[in-house]
Amino acid sequence: MELSEAIQKRRSIRRFKADEVSTEDLEAIMRAGTLAPTGCNRQEIDFIAVVDPLVLNEIRSVCLKGRDAFYSAPAVIFCIGHGDLTLADLDCGAAMENMALTATDLGLGSVWVHSARAELNEPAAFEHVRERLGLLPGSTILDCLAVGHPDQEPIEKLIKSSYRILGR
Ligand SMILES: Cc1cc2nc3c(=O)[nH]c(=O)nc-3n(C[C@H](O)[C@H](O)[C@H](O)COP(=O)(O)O)c2cc1C
Repeated sequence: MELSEAIQKRRSIRRFKADEVSTEDLEAIMRAGTLAPTGCNRQEIDFIAVVDPLVLNEIRSVCLKGRDAFYSAPAVIFCIGHGDLTLADLDCGAAMENMALTATDLGLGSVWVHSARAELNEPAAFEHVRERLGLLPGSTILDCLAVGHPDQEPIEKLIKSSYRILGR
């Protein structure tokens, strides 16, 4: 798929088939995350794909009062920040878009999930979640990408952002 087609086709998917996402596809998506630009090329973000339903359910249970923040996706990729977090959200955002576009290219659906972040990083939940994810001390969950085989056609999106060229 051409990049322009992936950009056109990528939409947030919030209904997934139960089929699992292959290891090859998850690795390709996370590899695309590692290729994104980072401030000063620090590359202080890592990616963990969780596909174990028991672990995913445990993580779900600490977010949004147990409402499924990840829309029953069979895989969730966690973007983890280390050290100085000054530019981490920007680095993470670039990686998230690379990963979402790669998921689209592979015929998969994805949705960027930010709503769970605060709770995932709360000390009470975090110890539990940290343990499950095998996180190192000093690391922060920056964002999550729920991934799976799409089971919906998103409705057409109204584009509100504008663009212009000055000087031509
Ligand atoms: C920073 C950011 C945070 C988001 N957090 C959530 C979220 O927590 N839950 C969710 O369902 N969608 C989330 N989204 C997806 C947006 O709702 C979605 O991108 C937007 O509605 C536009 O739809 P589209 O992705 O289909 O173009 C997030 C998107 C971004 C960029």
